[in-house]
Amino acid sequence: MIERTLADKGRASCLRDGCGLGASRTGPPRTALRRYLPAPAATCALLLAFSASCVSQVDDRMSGQIPRAEHGAAAMDYQIREFDRLVPESKVDEVPRGFDPVVWTAFIPEDNQMTAERVALGKKLFFDKRLSQDGTVSCATCHDVTRGFTDQRPTSEGIGNQLGRRNAPTTMNAVLLQTLFLDGRSPTLDHQARLPIINPIEMGFADGESAVKAIADDLEYQQMFKKAYGREVNYEDVGRAIGAFERTMIFLDSPFRRYLEGDEKAISADAKEGWRLFNEKARCVSCHHMSLSNPLGTDNRFHNVGVSARHWDFEALARKGIKAMEEDPSEAKLEQLALATDMSELGRFMASKNRSDIGAFRTSMLLNIGITPPYMHDGTLDTLWDVMDHYNKGGEANLFLDGGMEPLALTEKEIDQVVEFLFMLTDERFAGENRRQMEAQRAKAQKNRPFRDDEMANRKKLAFEDRISK
Ligand code: HEC
Ligand code: HEC
Repeated sequence: MIERTLADKGRASCLRDGCGLGASRTGPPRTALRRYLPAPAATCALLLAFSASCVSQVDDRMSGQIPRAEHGAAAMDYQIREFDRLVPESKVDEVPRGFDPVVWTAFIPEDNQMTAERVALGKKLFFDKRLSQDGTVSCATCHDVTRGFTDQRPTSEGIGNQLGRRNAPTTMNAVLLQTLFLDGRSPTLDHQARLPIINPIEMGFADGESAVKAIADDLEYQQMFKKAYGREVNYEDVGRAIGAFERTMIFLDSPFRRYLEGDEKAISADAKEGWRLFNEKARCVSCHHMSLSNPLGTDNRFHNVGVSARHWDFEALARKGIKAMEEDPSEAKLEQLALATDMSELGRFMASKNRSDIGAFRTSMLLNIGITPPYMHDGTLDTLWDVMDHYNKGGEANLFLDGGMEPLALTEKEIDQVVEFLFMLTDERFAGENRRQMEAQRAKAQKNRPFRDDEMANRKKLAFEDRISK
């Protein structure tokens, strides 16, 4: 079975495999995926004609009107209503609009077929704060529906107001990723969903059993688990149900998509120029692969683009990381090191132990990027202009910097055009929030561009000069 082979490996379709665009220099070798896929899929004709019409847009409510609860997240019942508006309950066992049915099956684990009961259970769990040890945190606290399924903070706040080390990525379209977490340490949504619950600084249960105890008395859950999986409340099925619910979070309907489908008016002339720069002078496409059939904008590989080189001595950290993992190689320990210690900055290295992965993180998806600031794994860049300044100067020099990073000599106008393009990647359902973000970020960038370095961008100064002369 083609589908089974793929789903088992947790890597399905060339959506996840870079679709044959330029190969990257780091990361695991390409999978032999094309051998398994039928010809049309292998050539990436995966997403069929995608209708641009879309469900109700989020209106232009001022964010101040959203009722806020613990940790600043929107109130859970408000979020649920909002979710229902964005994703009206449809036939969940049907293939999402725009997907080839064969390809879609490859995203569904064999032991977790999509049923309405499973999705409903996963939805209840996703918004349930009882899944945290102090009852203040649900998945939706950090993956807030009203904030592009992130928390829009530099790094996340969990139980007891503890701050983690990493920026919460969006759960939108996460089903289409090849690996999960910024260092790729989890293979599937169903597996990933169990980990925050037992992470001491996120939801904080000692183990799966204690988490199950917190909800097992609830009659409604007892019935829902029975209906969904034919079993009592249990931890594995908590992960499966949440995974099923997350598979309904498909948000691909952007103006850029309509442009690729032939609607010339969908994006502005500046945005079109930004797309050209993205593919040429700005070199973004060498890692952020993007096309109609590969819409996420990631090669699913891991690169060191120098985000944390500003603050860390990687060599010393790496030695510490190796020692800690030798002492306790368990999954729970890896979770803790990744989210609660300095070793977080080692990125992919902690999962792969390859030296070339030191300080490398998965290439981020760019779909819906406009509404999920701040940026990068540590949330240190506030605006997309800051992101451009970072790339324009060639990232931050360090021994493990990806070979694809170099000064770009982009002009101010060109930077604006790439940013204009990036804001065209947001699903139309968030058009209002996207506009608000663009204006807010522009205002911020006009006041302050802390990462701008024209000398570096134009090679008037070389990357290692500062370090050598220190
Ligand atoms: C305290 C905040 C917080 C809570 C609670 C939380 N997450 Fe996350 N989530 C994060 C952060 C931070 C990351 C990135 C961590 C990393 O890469 O190491 C993440 C990563 C993810 C990813 C991977 C996305 C990607 O791009 O790889 C998914 C999926 C996800 N979370 C789903 C969930 C689910 C489901 C729950 C509830 C069971 C949950 N999260 C609870 C903060 C949180
Ligand atoms: C060498 C590969 C590579 C190149 C070239 C590259 N990126 Fe990235 N990009 C990455 C990686 C890896 C990350 C995640 C880095 C991190 O979090 O530390 C990332 C993160 C981002 C983010 C932040 C996403 C988020 O959710 O926080 C944006 C935006 C982005 N890149 C845009 C661009 C643009 C625009 C260009 C071209 C000017 C570009 N990238 C060039 C690999 C690359």
